[in-house]
Amino acid sequence: MGTILGEFCVAVPSPIVNVATVRHLSPFRYPGGKTWLVPRVLAYLRALPESPFIFVDPFLGGGSIPLAALMEGCVSRAVLTEIDPDVSSVWRAIFSPDYKKLCSRILSFKVSRDSVLELLSHKPKSALDRAFQTIVKNRTFRGGIMANGASLVRIGENGRGVASRWYPETLAKRINLLHDLSDRVTFVEGDGHSMLRKYADNQEAFIFVDPPYTAGSGKRAGNRLYEHSVVDHDSIFSTLANGSANFMMTYDDDLEVLKLAKRKGFLLEYVGMKNTHHCEMHELLITRA
Ligand SMILES: C[S@@+](CC[C@H](N)C(=O)[O-])C[C@H]1O[C@@H](n2cnc3c(N)ncnc32)[C@H](O)[C@@H]1O
Repeated sequence: MGTILGEFCVAVPSPIVNVATVRHLSPFRYPGGKTWLVPRVLAYLRALPESPFIFVDPFLGGGSIPLAALMEGCVSRAVLTEIDPDVSSVWRAIFSPDYKKLCSRILSFKVSRDSVLELLSHKPKSALDRAFQTIVKNRTFRGGIMANGASLVRIGENGRGVASRWYPETLAKRINLLHDLSDRVTFVEGDGHSMLRKYADNQEAFIFVDPPYTAGSGKRAGNRLYEHSVVDHDSIFSTLANGSANFMMTYDDDLEVLKLAKRKGFLLEYVGMKNTHHCEMHELLITRA
């Protein structure tokens, strides 16, 4: 249970998710990624009286949740938006005929501190170059963080250094699997707020909102983890409150967020997870009451 939710008296108990039990579909090791929340969101979708047709994710990042919803047949289509051009380059490559070239480059890359630094010292000459550099950076930088100021892994897991999270065959397998979803995915590089406004009143849509944490006291976390972290949380809450689409938002348990959700009459719930180090963490889920 979070520290301040009790005041609002709206906790709904739900089982702790063990992240090690969730299938990983994303090629990213995404900071603030929600793979662990997949079972909870799929259960929510399956319990709806009518299955939504479209899954809308306006702040895509590593994208585990919409990809799992598509893969598991919980929705027919997905509309995905991300503002970061590097992250977007990877999604674009995956859902394009270039996916095979991306896989080949991943499979033939000989990872080392020097080869990573050499690769990243060049300005990408093509969209594919950019996608490949982004994958390498994401998998070899500390915590998968690619924002300004991030740095290469030093010791890594079991002393494997930059190779700690470089699993070329697994990455190629995931990319191939995801490419098979291409016909059902619309990816847009752009601003999630406009995508949200476009679908907020669409009753065939389910909108999953996981913006950078820059609300309330979470300002620094968002700035440190993402290159793009300026988000209008008030506008997100108002757009969803004024629309009729089904949605789920996830936030840190921050007092400002709780107050905002309460003002809009939304339902609040804590979900817990155990990470691979067996630490328990909690996240706030906000849905329409
Ligand atoms: C918390 S992360 C999303 C994590 C994702 N749910 C996952 O499971 O990996 C938030 C994402 O929103 C992106 N972002 C920030 N501002 C945005 C905006 N205005 N429009 C779209 N995406 C934005 C960031 O680049 C980041 O990838």
